[in-house]
This record gives sequence, structure tokens and C-alpha cells, in this order.
Amino acid sequence: MTLMEDSVGVGDLVLLEPLEEEPLLKNLQLRYENKEIYTYIGNVLISMNPYQQLPIYGPEFIAKYRDYTFYELKPHIPTSVFTCFLLPSYALANVAYQSLRDRDRDQCILITGESGAGKTEASKLVMSYVAAVCGKGEQVNSVKEQLLQSNPVLEAFGNAKTIRNNNSSRFGKYMDIEFDFKGSPLGGVITNYLLEKSRVVKQLEGERNFHIFYQLLAGADAHLLEALKLKRDTSHYAYLNQKVSRVDGMDDASNFKSVQNAMTVIGFSEVEIQQVLEVTALVLKLGNVELADESQANGTSASGIRDGRGVQEIGEMIGLNSEELEKALCSRTMKTAKEEVVTTLNFTQAQYARDALAKNIYSRLFNWIVNRINESIKVGNGEKKKVMGVLDIYGFEILEDNSFEQFVINYCNEKLQQVFIEMTLKEEQEEYKREGIPWTKVDYFDNGIICNLIEHNQQGILAMLDEECLRPGVVSDSTFLAKLNQVFSKHGYYESKVTQNAQRQYDHTMGLSCFRICHYAGKVTYNVNGFIDKNNDLLFRDLSQAMWKAQHPLLQSLFPEGVPTQTSLKRPPTAGAQFKSSVAILMKNLYSKNPNYIRCIKPNEHQQRGQFSSELVAVQTRYLGLLENVRVRRAGYAYRQRYGPFLERYRLLGRSTWPRWNGGDREGVEKVLGELSLSSEELAFGKTKIFIRSPKTLFYLEEKRRLRLQQLATLIQKIYRGWRCRTHYQLMRKSQILISSWFRGNMQRKHYAKIKASVVLIQAFVRGWKARKDYRKYFRSGAALTLADFIYKSITQKFLLGLRNNLPSTNILDRTWPAAPYRCFNTANQELQQLFYRWKCKRFRDRLSPKQVEILKEKLCASELFKGKKASYPQSVPIPFCGDYLGLQGNPKLQKLKGGEEGPVLMADTVKKVNRGNGKTSSRILLLTKGHVILIDTKKSQAKTVIGLDSVAEVSVTSFKDGLFSLHLNEISSVGSRGDFLLVSEHVIELLTKMYQAVLDATQRQLLISVTEKFSVRFKESSVAVKVIQGPEGDRNGKLKCKKKGSRCLEVTV
Ligand SMILES: Nc1ncnc2c1ncn2[C@@H]1O[C@H](COP(=O)(O)OP(=O)(O)OP(=O)(O)O)[C@@H](O)[C@H]1O
Ligand SMILES: [Mg+2]
Repeated sequence: MTLMEDSVGVGDLVLLEPLEEEPLLKNLQLRYENKEIYTYIGNVLISMNPYQQLPIYGPEFIAKYRDYTFYELKPHIPTSVFTCFLLPSYALANVAYQSLRDRDRDQCILITGESGAGKTEASKLVMSYVAAVCGKGEQVNSVKEQLLQSNPVLEAFGNAKTIRNNNSSRFGKYMDIEFDFKGSPLGGVITNYLLEKSRVVKQLEGERNFHIFYQLLAGADAHLLEALKLKRDTSHYAYLNQKVSRVDGMDDASNFKSVQNAMTVIGFSEVEIQQVLEVTALVLKLGNVELADESQANGTSASGIRDGRGVQEIGEMIGLNSEELEKALCSRTMKTAKEEVVTTLNFTQAQYARDALAKNIYSRLFNWIVNRINESIKVGNGEKKKVMGVLDIYGFEILEDNSFEQFVINYCNEKLQQVFIEMTLKEEQEEYKREGIPWTKVDYFDNGIICNLIEHNQQGILAMLDEECLRPGVVSDSTFLAKLNQVFSKHGYYESKVTQNAQRQYDHTMGLSCFRICHYAGKVTYNVNGFIDKNNDLLFRDLSQAMWKAQHPLLQSLFPEGVPTQTSLKRPPTAGAQFKSSVAILMKNLYSKNPNYIRCIKPNEHQQRGQFSSELVAVQTRYLGLLENVRVRRAGYAYRQRYGPFLERYRLLGRSTWPRWNGGDREGVEKVLGELSLSSEELAFGKTKIFIRSPKTLFYLEEKRRLRLQQLATLIQKIYRGWRCRTHYQLMRKSQILISSWFRGNMQRKHYAKIKASVVLIQAFVRGWKARKDYRKYFRSGAALTLADFIYKSITQKFLLGLRNNLPSTNILDRTWPAAPYRCFNTANQELQQLFYRWKCKRFRDRLSPKQVEILKEKLCASELFKGKKASYPQSVPIPFCGDYLGLQGNPKLQKLKGGEEGPVLMADTVKKVNRGNGKTSSRILLLTKGHVILIDTKKSQAKTVIGLDSVAEVSVTSFKDGLFSLHLNEISSVGSRGDFLLVSEHVIELLTKMYQAVLDATQRQLLISVTEKFSVRFKESSVAVKVIQGPEGDRNGKLKCKKKGSRCLEVTV
């Protein structure tokens, strides 16, 4: 924003040159004509009423400036100028709101100015700004809505059209908006001051009654009007000014709807709204109660109701007997300690009573509404809150005819001026003195003396008015004036006809019943008429009791003093005293807060846009003390702060004071500012405070602080982030180590457990195996083996013992053998059988005599030679070899045959010799000796053939049963020439066996014995083939038949 370019005149009067009234007015006019209605004097805002809607308000403007802070200004631009461009009313509200939120200071915004200068509008702007910038949320929004909606309700009941202002506030309002620590509104408290209730019954020409009456009649629907028994036409109502019933640009009907809506938003119930409207209607109806002048029989004047219908209607509406109401309106009960006296009221008194009732009902209704709103918007006690007060109080009034109301209003304004003086002009200059800052005093008007004139506890006008009201005896407004004249005859700010006369002054503007006070804002002449009455604010007890009796709950609650049992005769405090004390409370409240001023100025008397009346503005600037304000401001220092808090706020800017400072506060501040090398003109070091001349310097400090804060925040963030990451990392690392150690541990444990389990298993197996080995014998399973073994052994034993006892005979021919009892013994049994048999044989053999042995040897030899070869062998076996079949031993003749041959005869038998030539047989005796075979012819005992056994080469026999055999002789033997012998013996087996042995013994040669059916025998140098044929069995009784076949073949049939 190019602020300086857009600037019209000077935005801050501190910059005004030359500093005099005229340029000041010119500057204001210039700005006003350029629609710059706001101007600053430092932090005091001057606001000129534009009488037109300027395009500088609304949400978009608020949004634009909400984040703007007073200190966020470029150091080279004067802040005041800058701020004045930034919607000063918003800017001021912004400063107040931010100070409240950020610096924890309660604030108040004092809006002052004449009637119609724009105070109420400014207060609404402040509220709407605060509502727009503060926090959001359902709760907060509803509080904001309630606070904002209190305006239309209060304006409807408390504002009226006056000559000066179409929407003039006829009450003073101070509103505390309460915030929480974040700056969100929590609620508020509204205090109202002195409603101008006389307006209810009477209005000046060109003025209206309170808006609500017109709004009700114009806006209520037919149904509501019917219910309230009202007529839409305002001319029906005596209390409503007949001439002015409409205000230009004001839509009463739609405003009525807004009011109803606002009441709902605030929290009024349907019933409450209805009751409020009923009481409002009641006031209108009271005005229509016409009274008549009546004379009593005793001549005293009395009053009565002209038309009973009105009273009747009221009675019905509020639930009160109309006669009772009538009585209360027309008579008065005087109560003393001893008795009660009822006096009738004359016409005037009755009218006064009726009007007093109407005024009281209305003003009490107004108070009730304020309290009801407060109930809705109040904040709980427990909450710690910050407060922003907004004071919109009636402006200074100088009317043609000024009465009690103007007097108290002006008193209030006087007090506000005093606050301004005390807190800005006086306090500031005194502070410089206190702090020892070199200072040239700026003169200004101190209105303390005027305040004193009015409010002094004994010698003040209000105190004397009260005294007059309470004084016994004849009391009137003129006795009051006389007293004032007497007391203030020498007072510089008090004038009256009497004091003027005393000073020989002639002033035709001063009436006899008037006094004049030289207020800070000008001289105001007050007419004392009605002062006593208005101060007394009397409402006859009969009326309050009647109202209390009404069945209307709201109305009844408005008159608590009407309770008949309440017998206190103590007078209620007077209106003046009440007002004074509430002003005192207000002042105390304001002094406890940081003030922010909006000085409203009215540019013209005609509510016209664009018109600038220099005289009118000059008067206002004069009494507002703007010039002095600028002077003090200019000469002084824009900012001051105690060393402690200042150092606390800015010590972060100094290298030696940050982060720690151990020295004193003042030294610290000097160090910080010294390091910043600010110009010495800009600074003044007081005893307890530092003073900074221009805002520019302060803004420079603030900007530096902001940057430094950012740096520090970054530093803190950096360290914090580092710390967080580090700890996070360490934590992660620790966790990782923990996890891996657990994991590894777990893995190892598992592994170990596996190994251990395996080892244990192996051990168990080994141990088991060993144990089983050692204990197998004890096992049941082993028992079977043992038993089987035992059984086996026992049956074996039994078998063997049985065998022993049942052995078969020892005869070797007995081959019987008991069978094995079990199959398993079969082999053993066979073996045993064999053994037994062999044993039998051995025993048999051992018992044999040598001879028997010889015989058996022979038999054995025979078996070897012929067993299985010769058919006659088996028959030969059982027949013992006797060798001597001829009885040779006992026959010496035969012995001789043996000749001289060596040794005994081994065999002596008769054989047949087969003639090889013809096949005929002839008997021969054959003797076998150890060395010879001797053949002897039986008939010719001498003729014998001796064959040496060494000559016998071979013997041939047949395989048949026959006894034929052939002795094959060596060719060189002595008998060889005779050829081989073909013989037949009945004991051929024995013979050949003995021969075989004899040959073996004699020649150590095994004789070859061939078993054959075909063989050849040598015969006379040639050989004859012998062929043996088996003849039919048993045919020839062992006789053989030889048949010659050719010369060389012989066939033998056996
Ligand atoms: N900032 C503004 N912008 C537009 N119009 C304004 C502004 N301020 C005041 N007005 C006009 O001036 C009129 C009077 O203003 P306001 O009611 O605020 O005066 P006041 O100082 O409260 O007077 P009173 O003391 O009588 O209550 C308003 O109704 C409005 O029309
Ligand atoms: Mg107002």
C-alpha cells in the first residue's frame, strides 16, 4: 500500500505544522472532504461523522487488516499515519484487542463526542471488528452473536430520534467484553446509565419516543396487535408524538423483526418476548388513560378517569382490577408511623402520577432487559478473563432548554474529560516530572474544579439538590436555586442571574430560574424547574403496590418494592445520587484499564454529508482539548515503560544481556539500547522508566525483536529437532540392540535347547539301552525268553532223559530209534541215533575176537569188491566164510593134496572147470594158499595145476548169480601156456575175496576183478570170447550151460 501517496493532509496531527487551531481545522476539513474521516493524535483517534456509508468497512477489510500489528510497520513510515490509513477505528480496536490478548492488559475504549457525532456507530465497529478477528468455534460464535445482537435490542428500547440524531442513544452504555487467554470472547456485562425516561411521556418538537413503540405498531402482525389490543396507527396514542412518526431511512417494521430475532438469539423465551411487548403496550395504553378534573363535595379538587374503557383494558391485560388501578392513579395513601391517610389527587397530580408510572414501568423494563441480556452473556466466575470495555455514553448536550437530564449527562461528560486529562495530559506531564525528565510544561484546562462543583460531597450541586429534596419544610426548585446562588456566589464556573447582578453583568439569555455552568466544553444554562421532582423520581407507593398486585409476572417483578408487607419508610436514593455513584464506579473501572480514545466530532448540525462547519468543529476541538493533546504528545515521548518489563522484552536484542543478565534493570536497558546505537535524542532514561520519543524507534525495536524471536525460535527448533532425532535414534538403536540381543539369545536358546534335547535323548537312549541291558533279565519281556529257554532246556532234558531210559537194544542190527517228541529235536534225534548206532557198532567191534575181525575184514573186502556189482553178493553176506568146504583139517588125504606148498590153505572148495574147447565141465578141487591156486582133479588126485598168484593178472566174473569166473594169467607164467582158466564155484564171492587178499598180501598188488558178461579167455595160443547170458530164473538150479559157437566163441547161459 502506498500510504504516503494516498495521504490527504496529515493523518497524525502530531506531524501538523504549524501547530495552531486554524491549520488543525483545515487539515480536518481537507481530510473530511476527501472522505478521510479518521485522524490520529498519537493513539487518540479523531473520528468525523461522514453521514454516509463509506466503503471501508466489512469483512474483506477486517480480513485484510486483522493480522496487522501496530508494530509491524516499516520503521521509516510514521505509524500513526500508517495506522490511520488502515481503518483507524479498526486499527484502534486492533491495538486494544492485541494489547489485551498479547500483553495481558485490560483495555477500555472511551468513545466520546456530542450527540450524533458517531459514538454508537464507532462502538459497533469496534465490536464487529473484535467479533471478526477473535477465535472461532460453535461456542465462541454463539457468544459473539449474542454480544452483537444485544445492540439492536438495546437500540430499539433505548434509542430515539432527536433533533440532532435520528438514532440517538438515550442511555449511557458501558459494555465489558470478556475474553479468555486466547482472545476468544467468553461473554460480557452491560452497564446502562440513566435512561432518558421523560421521553416516554413527552418529546420535543421534531423528536420521537423510543423506537420500540413505533416498531411494535408498524412491525407486529395483525394477530399480535390483536393480542396486545393495539391499533397500528400511531396517532391513537397520546405518548407518541403526533407530528413525527416516521424517520427517513429507518424501516420500523423490519427493525421490529430484527429486534424479535435478536431477542431470540440472545436467549429470550417466547413468553418473555411476549411479556416484554405486553409491558411496552401497557405504557402506550397508560398514555391514553384520560383523566378528568373533578371537584369534591368539600371543595377540594380531585381527579377521575374520563373513560373507564382504557383502564378496563389495561386491567384485563395485566390481570388487575380496574378499580384498583383507578384508585391508585387518582389517590394517594400517606403513611406515617402511626396512621394511614388517603388523599385524593387533583388533576395535575393524577396526570403526574400516571406519567410517573409510565416512565417508571418503561425505565424498569429497560433495566430488566439489560439484566436479562447480561444473564445470557455473563461469564462463569471461575474463568480467568481479560476485559475490553467499550464506553458509549451520551455526548455533551447544550440544548435550548437544559434540564436535570442534561445536567447529569454533562456531568458525566465532564468526568470523562477528567479521565482523559488525568490519564493523558496531566499524568503524562507529571510522570516526566516524577521521572526527572527535562520538561517544559504544557498548559491545559484541568476540569477538576468543575467536577468538584457538581459532585462535591457537601458543597456540590448534586449534594445540595439531595439535601433540598430531603429537607423538611417548603421545598421547591427556586429554594434550591437560591441555595446554589448563595453557596456558589463566588465560584468561577457558576453563574446565575443573582451572581451576574452582583457583578453588575447584564445577560438577557439568563433566565431567573436558571443557573449556568462553565463546562470544559462550553457554558450551559440549566433551568432548575423540575430538578427536585426529577431528582426525587417519586412514584407513589399506591402505584407500585398496584403494579405488584397485577397478575402479570414480568410487571410484578419490576416493582419489588410494591410488596405490601414492606413497611420501610426509608426513601430510596435520589436519581442524582444514583447517577453519581454509578459514574464513580465507572470511573474506577476506567482507571483500572488501559484507555484508548475515540473522539467523535460532528461536522455539521444538519446530519448532512459533505458539510463541514468550521465553527462547530472548532468548538468541539477546543473543548476536546485536541490542540493541547497534540502539544503534549509532540513534546513528550511516545512510549515509556518500566525498566524491568522493558528489559525483559528487549534484552534478547543485546549481546551482553542475552541469555543472562545479572546487573540492574536500568543498566541492562542502557546496555541493550547502547548496543543498538539509537540516537540519544530518541531516548530518555527516567528514574524508573525508559522513555522513547518516537513510535518509529519503538517499531524499530519491535521489528528487531520479531526477527530475533524468529532466530531464537529457529535455534530452539534446531536444538529441539536435533535432540528429538538424537533421542529417537538412540532409542531406535537401543531398541534394535535389544531386539537383536533378544533375537540372538532366543535363537541360541532354541539351538541350545535343541542340542540339549538331542543330548538328553541320546543319553536317555544310551542309558536306557545300558539299563535295559543290565536289567533285561528282569524284564517281563525277557521272561518269555528265559521261560522259553527254561522250557526248552527242560523238555530237552526230559527228552534226553526219556531217551536214556528208553534206549533201544544194543543189537547193531536193531535200527529202531524212538521218534523225537518235538520237531525241533528231529536233527538232534537223528544225530543221536547216528551216534548211538556208531557207538553200538564200536562196542560191537571192540568185542570182536581177532578171528572174527579177520572174517569181517574178508566180508568187508567182499563187500567192496562185489556190493552192487554181482547179483549173488547179497546172498553171500550172511553166510560166514568158512574157507574149508572139504573138511581138509580132518582129512589128511586131502592135506596131502596141498603138497609142499607154503602156509595153510586159505580156501578149499570144489569147483567146476569149463573146458574151453567144448564147453564141458569137470570138477576140480581148488586150494588157495598164500602164494598159489591149486587145482586138483578130483578123480585123479595127483593131477593138479598150480598157479602162482603172481601169475594171476585178472579175474572176470559175471554180474549174475552164477558162480562163473575166469582167471586170466600172465602170458609168461609157467601155466600160461595152457591158457586162462574158466571155473565155476559155488562160493565164488568168498573165493575171489580170499584170492584178492592173498594177491595183495603176496604181491602188494590189487587184483583186478572185472564184473562183465563178455570177456575173452586165452586158449591154446588163441583166445575164446565168452559171452554170458542170463537164463530163465530157477531153471537149472545153478547149473550152467555152455554152448560152443564157432571155434572162438563160447556162449554160457547161467
Ligand atoms: N462511521 C460512520 N459511517 C456512516 N455513518 C455514520 C458513521 N458514524 C455515524 N454515522 C451516522 O451518524 C448517525 C449518528 O451516529 P451515532 O448514533 O453513532 O451518534 P452518537 O454519537 O451515538 O449520538 P448519540 O449521542 O445521540 O447517541 C448514525 O445514525 C449514522 O447515520
Ligand atoms: Mg449513540
